Amino acid sequence: ANKKISVLVGSLREGSFNKKIATEVMKLASPNLELEIVEIGQLVYYNEDLDQGNPPQEWVQFRNKIKNSDGFLFFTPEYNRGIPAVLKNAIDVASRPYGKNSWAGKPGAVVSVSISALGAFGANHLLRQSMVFVDVPMMQQPEAYIGNAQSLFDEAGTLVEDTKTFLQDFIRAYESWVNKF
Ligand code: FNR
Repeated sequence: ANKKISVLVGSLREGSFNKKIATEVMKLASPNLELEIVEIGQLVYYNEDLDQGNPPQEWVQFRNKIKNSDGFLFFTPEYNRGIPAVLKNAIDVASRPYGKNSWAGKPGAVVSVSISALGAFGANHLLRQSMVFVDVPMMQQPEAYIGNAQSLFDEAGTLVEDTKTFLQDFIRAYESWVNKF
């Protein structure tokens, strides 16, 4: 059966390199993976008080989407050596209310994308740290640190061939990872 994979992108900007790389990966994936970008920018900051009565509708919809996924694919920039607040907020929202963690047990993977040569290594691993606690087993290999993102697309917006090959291998490995669960 096809696997429903929620794609979470940690950048809200229109021209986001993370979004561009996510779109490329979605094109390269086998049809056995149903990849869908799930928006996170509309989620208000997590506040336990809002979880006492009727939580915000956006939270409820997002939690249902996460709960009904077979896995997660994260694309994250690095903000000041951490993950962007909007992505951390999304993780927090779907991990609650207490005892109802919508992430638990589903296989994940992360691609970090940066304009720096370090490829957002810090964000990649801080995301993994939170995933340990919300119980998302993250694919360990291959790792994906995409650096110098501004140089990976030509003037027509086409991704360079070696990065495309790398991402192809990455998404194949992720499909195998998902099929183990
Ligand atoms: C950055 N950027 C950045 N890059 C990096 O490699 N390490 C870092 O710690 C930071 N810190 C940082 C903080 C803030 C507030 C911003 C806005 C940016 C640069 C970052 O890699 C660049 O903006 C990317 O283009 C962001 O990804 P998107 O939006 O293109 O997907």
